[in-house]
Amino acid sequence: MAQQQKIRKAVFPVAGLGTRFLPATKAVPKEMLTVVDKPVIQYVVDEAAEAGIEHFVFVTGRGKGVIEDYFDIQYELEQMLRERNKNAELTLLAGLLPKAGTASFTRQQVPLGLGHAVWCARDIVGNEPFAVLLPDMIMSAEKGCLKGMVDLYAQTGGNVLAVQECDPEQAHKYGIVGVGDAVGEGFKITQMVEKPAKGTAPSNLYINGRYILQPEIFKILETQERGAGNEIQLTDGMLALAKSQEFAAYPFKGDTYDCGAKDGFILANLAFALQRADIRPAIEGPMKALIASLK
Ligand code: G1P
Repeated sequence: MAQQQKIRKAVFPVAGLGTRFLPATKAVPKEMLTVVDKPVIQYVVDEAAEAGIEHFVFVTGRGKGVIEDYFDIQYELEQMLRERNKNAELTLLAGLLPKAGTASFTRQQVPLGLGHAVWCARDIVGNEPFAVLLPDMIMSAEKGCLKGMVDLYAQTGGNVLAVQECDPEQAHKYGIVGVGDAVGEGFKITQMVEKPAKGTAPSNLYINGRYILQPEIFKILETQERGAGNEIQLTDGMLALAKSQEFAAYPFKGDTYDCGAKDGFILANLAFALQRADIRPAIEGPMKALIASLK
Protein backbone atom coordinates (compact mmCIF):
# COMPACT_ATOMS: atom_id res chain seq x y z
CA MET A 1 0.00 0.00 0.00
CA ALA A 2 1.28 3.45 -0.93
CA GLN A 3 2.55 5.55 1.95
CA GLN A 4 0.26 8.61 2.26
CA GLN A 5 1.54 12.05 3.12
CA LYS A 6 0.72 12.79 6.77
CA ILE A 7 -2.16 15.14 7.53
CA ARG A 8 -0.38 17.77 9.61
CA LYS A 9 -2.54 20.86 9.23
CA ALA A 10 -6.18 21.55 9.96
CA VAL A 11 -8.25 24.54 8.89
CA PHE A 12 -11.01 25.89 11.13
CA PRO A 13 -13.35 28.33 9.37
CA VAL A 14 -14.44 30.60 12.24
CA ALA A 15 -15.54 33.75 10.43
CA GLY A 16 -19.32 33.06 10.56
CA LEU A 17 -21.45 35.79 12.14
CA GLY A 18 -23.57 33.56 14.36
CA THR A 19 -26.75 35.56 13.77
CA ARG A 20 -28.83 32.63 15.04
CA PHE A 21 -27.40 33.26 18.51
CA LEU A 22 -28.07 36.96 18.81
CA PRO A 23 -27.90 38.70 21.20
CA ALA A 24 -25.25 36.37 22.75
CA THR A 25 -23.03 36.68 19.66
CA LYS A 26 -23.17 40.47 19.54
CA ALA A 27 -19.92 40.60 21.50
CA VAL A 28 -18.86 36.92 21.76
CA PRO A 29 -18.04 34.79 18.70
CA LYS A 30 -20.32 31.75 18.42
CA GLU A 31 -17.24 29.50 18.56
CA MET A 32 -16.58 30.82 22.07
CA LEU A 33 -20.00 29.91 23.48
CA THR A 34 -19.51 27.27 26.12
CA VAL A 35 -20.56 23.64 26.08
CA VAL A 36 -20.42 22.78 29.80
CA ASP A 37 -17.14 24.57 30.62
CA LYS A 38 -15.19 24.69 27.36
CA PRO A 39 -15.80 26.88 24.33
CA VAL A 40 -17.18 25.06 21.29
CA ILE A 41 -13.92 25.64 19.37
CA GLN A 42 -11.91 23.75 22.01
CA TYR A 43 -13.82 20.52 21.32
CA VAL A 44 -12.96 20.72 17.63
CA VAL A 45 -9.30 21.57 18.24
CA ASP A 46 -9.08 18.62 20.68
CA GLU A 47 -10.51 16.31 18.01
CA ALA A 48 -7.88 17.55 15.55
CA ALA A 49 -5.06 17.10 18.07
CA GLU A 50 -6.24 13.53 18.78
CA ALA A 51 -5.95 12.85 15.03
CA GLY A 52 -2.30 13.95 15.01
CA ILE A 53 -2.76 17.49 13.66
CA GLU A 54 0.31 19.61 14.34
CA HIS A 55 -0.72 23.01 12.99
CA PHE A 56 -4.06 24.72 13.59
CA VAL A 57 -5.15 27.29 11.00
CA PHE A 58 -8.03 29.58 11.96
CA VAL A 59 -9.80 31.56 9.25
CA THR A 60 -11.31 34.38 11.27
CA GLY A 61 -13.03 37.70 10.66
CA ARG A 62 -13.75 40.98 12.38
CA GLY A 63 -14.83 40.63 16.00
CA LYS A 64 -13.16 37.24 16.39
CA GLY A 65 -9.97 38.46 18.07
CA VAL A 66 -10.93 36.75 21.32
CA ILE A 67 -10.37 33.35 19.63
CA GLU A 68 -6.73 34.29 19.07
CA ASP A 69 -6.44 35.46 22.68
CA TYR A 70 -8.01 32.23 23.86
CA PHE A 71 -5.27 30.16 22.19
CA ASP A 72 -2.53 32.19 23.90
CA ILE A 73 -1.15 32.38 27.42
CA GLN A 74 -3.16 34.66 29.69
CA TYR A 75 -0.20 35.90 31.64
CA GLU A 76 -1.92 37.89 34.40
CA LEU A 77 -4.44 35.14 35.03
CA GLU A 78 -1.76 32.47 35.28
CA GLN A 79 0.34 34.65 37.60
CA MET A 80 -2.64 35.05 39.88
CA LEU A 81 -3.42 31.33 39.80
CA ARG A 82 0.22 30.63 40.77
CA GLU A 83 0.07 33.07 43.67
CA ARG A 84 -3.09 31.33 44.90
CA ASN A 85 -1.67 27.82 44.42
CA LYS A 86 -4.44 26.91 42.00
CA ASN A 87 -2.34 24.14 40.48
CA ALA A 88 -5.17 22.10 38.99
CA GLU A 89 -6.40 25.13 37.04
CA LEU A 90 -2.86 25.92 35.85
CA THR A 91 -2.37 22.36 34.63
CA LEU A 92 -5.75 22.45 32.87
CA LEU A 93 -4.87 25.65 30.99
CA ALA A 94 -1.38 24.42 30.04
CA GLY A 95 -2.80 21.15 28.67
CA LEU A 96 -5.18 22.98 26.33
CA LEU A 97 -2.67 25.41 24.85
CA PRO A 98 -1.27 24.72 21.36
CA LYS A 99 2.54 24.92 21.34
CA ALA A 100 3.99 28.30 20.33
CA GLY A 101 4.08 28.62 16.56
CA THR A 102 1.50 25.92 15.87
CA ALA A 103 -1.57 28.16 15.58
CA SER A 104 -2.05 30.54 12.64
CA PHE A 105 -4.76 33.11 12.09
CA THR A 106 -5.84 34.67 8.82
CA ARG A 107 -8.91 36.75 8.02
CA GLN A 108 -11.57 35.95 5.47
CA GLN A 109 -12.31 39.71 5.08
CA VAL A 110 -15.60 39.14 3.19
CA PRO A 111 -18.11 36.37 4.00
CA LEU A 112 -18.32 34.76 0.56
CA GLY A 113 -18.95 31.19 1.73
CA LEU A 114 -17.22 28.11 3.08
CA GLY A 115 -15.26 27.48 -0.13
CA HIS A 116 -13.87 30.99 0.04
CA ALA A 117 -12.99 30.60 3.74
CA VAL A 118 -10.99 27.44 3.02
CA TRP A 119 -9.26 29.15 0.08
CA CYS A 120 -8.13 31.92 2.46
CA ALA A 121 -5.93 29.30 4.20
CA ARG A 122 -4.06 28.38 1.00
CA ASP A 123 -0.75 30.09 1.78
CA ILE A 124 -0.58 28.76 5.33
CA VAL A 125 -1.46 25.21 4.26
CA GLY A 126 0.79 25.16 1.18
CA ASN A 127 1.16 22.15 -1.07
CA GLU A 128 0.12 19.30 1.19
CA PRO A 129 -3.10 17.44 2.06
CA PHE A 130 -4.95 18.97 5.00
CA ALA A 131 -8.05 18.65 7.15
CA VAL A 132 -11.01 21.01 7.48
CA LEU A 133 -13.17 20.94 10.61
CA LEU A 134 -16.35 23.00 10.80
CA PRO A 135 -16.46 24.24 14.38
CA ASP A 136 -20.25 24.30 14.54
CA MET A 137 -20.26 20.51 14.54
CA ILE A 138 -19.00 18.93 17.73
CA MET A 139 -18.86 15.21 18.16
CA SER A 140 -18.88 12.58 20.82
CA ALA A 141 -17.44 9.14 20.10
CA GLU A 142 -14.91 6.70 21.46
CA LYS A 143 -12.69 7.29 18.43
CA GLY A 144 -12.73 10.89 17.21
CA CYS A 145 -14.19 11.50 13.77
CA LEU A 146 -11.03 13.00 12.26
CA LYS A 147 -8.90 10.19 13.73
CA GLY A 148 -11.14 7.65 12.00
CA MET A 149 -10.80 9.60 8.75
CA VAL A 150 -7.01 9.74 9.03
CA ASP A 151 -6.98 5.97 9.51
CA LEU A 152 -9.13 5.46 6.40
CA TYR A 153 -6.97 7.96 4.46
CA ALA A 154 -3.91 5.84 5.27
CA GLN A 155 -5.57 3.14 3.14
CA THR A 156 -7.22 5.23 0.42
CA GLY A 157 -5.18 8.41 -0.02
CA GLY A 158 -7.02 11.04 -2.06
CA ASN A 159 -9.81 12.97 -0.36
CA VAL A 160 -11.92 11.71 2.53
CA LEU A 161 -15.20 13.14 3.84
CA ALA A 162 -16.99 12.06 6.99
CA VAL A 163 -20.67 11.29 6.52
CA GLN A 164 -23.58 10.38 8.74
CA GLU A 165 -27.20 9.41 8.28
CA CYS A 166 -29.80 12.13 8.56
CA ASP A 167 -33.56 12.16 8.48
CA PRO A 168 -34.32 12.29 4.70
CA GLU A 169 -36.63 15.23 5.50
CA GLN A 170 -33.55 17.17 6.64
CA ALA A 171 -31.31 16.33 3.64
CA HIS A 172 -31.93 19.72 1.97
CA LYS A 173 -29.99 21.41 4.78
CA TYR A 174 -26.68 19.66 4.04
CA GLY A 175 -24.20 18.42 1.48
CA ILE A 176 -25.31 14.87 0.52
CA VAL A 177 -23.20 12.11 -1.06
CA GLY A 178 -23.93 9.23 -3.44
CA VAL A 179 -22.74 5.78 -2.33
CA GLY A 180 -20.32 3.67 -4.41
CA ASP A 181 -18.17 0.57 -3.79
CA ALA A 182 -16.76 -0.21 -0.36
CA VAL A 183 -13.16 0.82 0.41
CA GLY A 184 -11.69 -0.12 3.79
CA GLU A 185 -14.22 0.87 6.44
CA GLY A 186 -15.78 3.38 4.07
CA PHE A 187 -17.01 3.68 0.50
CA LYS A 188 -16.29 5.56 -2.71
CA ILE A 189 -18.31 8.71 -3.24
CA THR A 190 -20.09 8.79 -6.59
CA GLN A 191 -21.87 12.11 -6.25
CA MET A 192 -22.06 15.21 -4.05
CA VAL A 193 -24.91 17.71 -3.93
CA GLU A 194 -25.00 20.81 -1.78
CA LYS A 195 -28.43 21.40 -0.24
CA PRO A 196 -30.46 19.22 -2.67
CA ALA A 197 -34.06 20.27 -3.33
CA LYS A 198 -36.51 18.17 -1.31
CA GLY A 199 -36.93 14.67 -2.74
CA THR A 200 -33.82 14.83 -4.96
CA ALA A 201 -31.04 13.78 -2.55
CA PRO A 202 -28.96 10.80 -3.77
CA SER A 203 -28.96 9.30 -0.23
CA ASN A 204 -29.56 10.30 3.38
CA LEU A 205 -25.83 10.47 4.10
CA TYR A 206 -24.78 14.03 4.84
CA ILE A 207 -21.33 15.56 4.99
CA ASN A 208 -20.97 16.22 8.71
CA GLY A 209 -18.29 18.93 8.62
CA ARG A 210 -15.00 16.99 8.52
CA TYR A 211 -12.85 16.84 5.40
CA ILE A 212 -9.42 15.61 4.30
CA LEU A 213 -8.56 17.39 1.07
CA GLN A 214 -5.73 17.51 -1.41
CA PRO A 215 -4.16 20.94 -2.01
CA GLU A 216 -5.36 21.03 -5.65
CA ILE A 217 -8.69 22.20 -4.19
CA PHE A 218 -7.20 25.68 -3.71
CA LYS A 219 -6.67 26.27 -7.46
CA ILE A 220 -10.28 25.27 -8.08
CA LEU A 221 -11.69 27.47 -5.33
CA GLU A 222 -9.72 30.43 -6.67
CA THR A 223 -11.88 30.79 -9.79
CA GLN A 224 -15.07 29.16 -8.61
CA GLU A 225 -18.51 30.63 -9.31
CA ARG A 226 -21.02 31.10 -6.51
CA GLY A 227 -23.40 28.20 -5.88
CA ALA A 228 -26.21 27.43 -3.39
CA GLY A 229 -27.15 30.47 -1.26
CA ASN A 230 -25.10 32.67 -3.64
CA GLU A 231 -21.95 31.53 -1.80
CA ILE A 232 -18.68 29.99 -2.97
CA GLN A 233 -19.42 26.43 -1.87
CA LEU A 234 -16.75 23.95 -0.80
CA THR A 235 -18.96 21.14 -2.11
CA ASP A 236 -18.91 22.61 -5.64
CA GLY A 237 -15.10 22.83 -5.45
CA MET A 238 -14.93 19.19 -4.34
CA LEU A 239 -17.19 18.17 -7.24
CA ALA A 240 -14.75 19.77 -9.67
CA LEU A 241 -11.81 18.07 -7.94
CA ALA A 242 -13.64 14.71 -8.10
CA LYS A 243 -13.23 14.79 -11.90
CA SER A 244 -9.53 14.05 -11.44
CA GLN A 245 -9.24 12.62 -7.90
CA GLU A 246 -10.90 10.00 -5.74
CA PHE A 247 -13.23 10.87 -2.86
CA ALA A 248 -13.95 8.31 -0.14
CA ALA A 249 -16.51 8.58 2.64
CA TYR A 250 -15.89 7.68 6.26
CA PRO A 251 -19.19 6.70 7.90
CA PHE A 252 -18.77 8.24 11.35
CA LYS A 253 -20.27 6.26 14.21
CA GLY A 254 -20.94 8.65 17.03
CA ASP A 255 -23.07 11.62 17.98
CA THR A 256 -22.82 14.97 16.24
CA TYR A 257 -24.29 18.17 17.64
CA ASP A 258 -24.82 21.15 15.38
CA CYS A 259 -23.88 23.97 17.71
CA GLY A 260 -24.71 26.47 14.99
CA ALA A 261 -28.38 25.87 15.87
CA LYS A 262 -30.02 26.45 19.24
CA ASP A 263 -31.42 22.93 19.61
CA GLY A 264 -28.07 21.28 18.75
CA PHE A 265 -26.20 23.59 21.09
CA ILE A 266 -28.52 22.88 24.01
CA LEU A 267 -28.45 19.13 23.35
CA ALA A 268 -24.63 19.24 23.26
CA ASN A 269 -24.60 20.88 26.67
CA LEU A 270 -26.94 18.27 28.11
CA ALA A 271 -25.11 15.33 26.51
CA PHE A 272 -21.61 16.43 27.52
CA ALA A 273 -22.79 17.34 31.04
CA LEU A 274 -24.31 13.87 31.43
CA GLN A 275 -20.96 12.33 30.47
CA ARG A 276 -19.27 14.11 33.36
CA ALA A 277 -18.99 12.21 36.64
CA ASP A 278 -18.71 15.52 38.55
CA ILE A 279 -21.93 16.92 37.09
CA ARG A 280 -24.23 14.05 36.21
CA PRO A 281 -25.34 13.15 39.77
CA ALA A 282 -26.49 16.72 40.38
CA ILE A 283 -28.48 17.14 37.17
CA GLU A 284 -29.84 13.71 36.26
CA GLY A 285 -32.69 13.71 38.80
CA PRO A 286 -33.80 17.30 38.17
CA MET A 287 -33.62 16.72 34.39
CA LYS A 288 -35.87 13.66 34.63
CA ALA A 289 -38.27 15.57 36.88
CA LEU A 290 -38.32 18.45 34.43
CA ILE A 291 -39.18 16.15 31.55
CA ALA A 292 -41.80 14.28 33.59
CA SER A 293 -43.45 17.59 34.44
CA LEU A 294 -43.84 18.58 30.78
CA LYS A 295 -47.45 19.07 29.82
C1 G1P B 1 -21.86 23.21 5.40
C2 G1P B 1 -21.50 22.42 4.14
C3 G1P B 1 -22.43 21.20 3.99
C4 G1P B 1 -22.35 20.35 5.24
C5 G1P B 1 -22.68 21.22 6.48
C6 G1P B 1 -22.47 20.45 7.77
O1 G1P B 1 -23.12 23.78 5.24
O2 G1P B 1 -21.60 23.27 3.02
O3 G1P B 1 -22.04 20.43 2.88
O4 G1P B 1 -23.25 19.26 5.16
O5 G1P B 1 -21.84 22.38 6.54
O6 G1P B 1 -22.86 21.25 8.84
P1 G1P B 1 -23.62 25.00 6.20
O7 G1P B 1 -23.95 24.39 7.52
O8 G1P B 1 -22.50 25.98 6.27
O9 G1P B 1 -24.84 25.56 5.52
